[in-house]
Amino acid sequence: MISTLLSRPQRGPDGAPVPRLLFGADYNPEQWSRKVWEEDVRLMRAAGVNVVSLAIFSWAHLQPGPDAWDFAWLDEVMDLLYENGVGVDLATATASPPPWLTTAHPEILPVTDRGETLSPGARQHWRPTSPVFREHALRLVREMATRYADHPALFAWHVNNELGCHNVYDYSDDAARAFRDWLRARYTTLDTLNHAWGTAFWSQRYGDWEQILPPRLAASHPNPTQQLDFKRFSSDSLKDYLRAERAVLREVTPDVPVTTNFMVMPGTKGMNYADWADEVDFVANDHYVVPGPQARDELSFSANLTSGIAGGRPWFLMEHSTSAVNWQPVNLAKRPGELARDSLTHVAHGADAVCFFQWRQSAAGAEKYHSAMVPHAGADSDLFRAVTALGDTLKTLAPVAGSEREPAGVGILFDWESWWASEQDSHPTSLLDYHREALDWYSALLSLGVRADVVTTGADLSRHRMLIAPVLHLVPAGLAKDLTRYAEQGGHLVTTYFSGVVDENDHVWLGGYPGALRDLLGIRVEEFGPLPAGQEVELDDASTGGLWTDHITVTAPSTEVLAHYRTGAYAGRPAVTRRPTGGGSATYVSTRLGADGLASLLPRLLEPAGVMSELPAEVRGSVETTVRRGPGGRFLFLVNRTDRAVTVPGVTGEVLVGGTDADGAVLLAPRGVTVLRTSTD
Ligand code: GLA
Ligand code: GLA
Repeated sequence: MISTLLSRPQRGPDGAPVPRLLFGADYNPEQWSRKVWEEDVRLMRAAGVNVVSLAIFSWAHLQPGPDAWDFAWLDEVMDLLYENGVGVDLATATASPPPWLTTAHPEILPVTDRGETLSPGARQHWRPTSPVFREHALRLVREMATRYADHPALFAWHVNNELGCHNVYDYSDDAARAFRDWLRARYTTLDTLNHAWGTAFWSQRYGDWEQILPPRLAASHPNPTQQLDFKRFSSDSLKDYLRAERAVLREVTPDVPVTTNFMVMPGTKGMNYADWADEVDFVANDHYVVPGPQARDELSFSANLTSGIAGGRPWFLMEHSTSAVNWQPVNLAKRPGELARDSLTHVAHGADAVCFFQWRQSAAGAEKYHSAMVPHAGADSDLFRAVTALGDTLKTLAPVAGSEREPAGVGILFDWESWWASEQDSHPTSLLDYHREALDWYSALLSLGVRADVVTTGADLSRHRMLIAPVLHLVPAGLAKDLTRYAEQGGHLVTTYFSGVVDENDHVWLGGYPGALRDLLGIRVEEFGPLPAGQEVELDDASTGGLWTDHITVTAPSTEVLAHYRTGAYAGRPAVTRRPTGGGSATYVSTRLGADGLASLLPRLLEPAGVMSELPAEVRGSVETTVRRGPGGRFLFLVNRTDRAVTVPGVTGEVLVGGTDADGAVLLAPRGVTVLRTSTD
């Protein structure tokens, strides 16, 4: 359990650690004087902070020159935090190389696909594959690990920071060398690579490994499999770097857990976190609200997917914001109630720690307008009062710590390989957005009040009566078999346009789309009919499609047509089909219906799958529910998605957070969250 990893866990009468939720922030004391440190720990106590991430950007302070070290200030901070009951998630401090290093070794700087070298002066200006960077960084990691191995405040190691946030794609000569090694390991022979990359096309046949380059800026579209492999390689290179730091940490401090903060968000598709999850001792995530009509849904989706990446086990919210960020075109402040609701939505989806970037708002630097727990205005502020109130709420929710998610009837499959492959260039449309399609299904389920788990490839599919796999574009033979077995054994599979089209080499499954899933779906698509931006087609069930249409022929006698196109090039032909498969079914949705259209379609798919909303009809759409179950009992989270008060009748249990009305019905404040313990086992 994450909280019991703290070196100073709270203990019960029997001496055993008492579970609690963790609460805190990134702490950057090097930006402040010692006098401020004293105030910091006083305010941390007032707010109930029990953990901080420390030294993330401290390299230049800790190692001012190649052979100069200064740990005295960090020793002092570590002691001060320990004395005040705050555990430390200690960074290895390697995220931002100091000026002396980039001056002496400019060859560690990343290079873009256009051959431009990125200058130092911001942060994360290092090549994931640079041996020189690695040598210097691992030296620092060893110093940190050795110095703080026995410090009682240390509870976990925080490798680097947001690996790949700014440097996932590097096209340097180091990257070229490492890419060739990676390709040799994947393909063994050049013949295999030439086949996989389809180099018979455009005279690309390789006769020597040394001829292979990263997909740098070229005269036209670079080879698609080369591009896909470069994405795999880039994710793997950062994973390999994570493992390199971890190896040093495990050698010096074998008992201290190691993590790093993922960024499960629409804009950070470069890192295949599903594939990284086993590399950390607990999953940690950073999330920032993306403004727009689906802002709340996306937050929930991210938290839900993080839970999927963590295999349903509790995870650590390493960063989110108390209010505005500084890196969007317009940085919106959070409205009253949103700070707590955002945090508790993460807890609802399995977070056992709620942390922010950052503790104290910077007075200088690029992030001085980014909110923090202690704002520029100081502790006498509504924001700090909201922070303190959240600290109290999290104390009340201590029994939730350690609980896992109770599987939902519906799973949404989120697959990095399909994300990468479906959005490559030279495709039928450049408008396809993998993440948005997945989010639309999720929004539709939220609007129907149906609980869903976002899961990743490799998860146990049989846990869900319905599995929605939007734009599952890249389907190797093994995955096609798994999905077929799932549907034949009673599962209800739903998939969409541009799914099942290519194999792991990005080669088209021939004979009609969606080749890998054609038999299972009982349909055959002869041609894609993508739509120009803004153009729509009507379906005969009163819904409207955009982005995509397909020329579909039904091939299995049992395939039902749930909706036809009414307008457009394929008017009269099937648009949505469903093939029963024994106890299960396989549904195909050939156009982008959007969240509203999916919400109209879904009841027809959920009913035969036997999945229903667990909420009373009048609050569906207004309230999001999740269930966590663990040693402390079974917990039902009810999150008010609206700005008005909502009464939820018919739900009973011990109210841990939130309130009830005079009749005992759960009363959700505007943007409020209620947590009930519905059973103690
Ligand atoms: C040009 C080229 C062809 C092919 C087509 C595609 O005509 O000569 O090789 O790339 O464009 O539209
Ligand atoms: C990321 C970084 C932090 C900070 C925040 C700002 O999450 O890890 O250092 O820059 O973004 O939103």
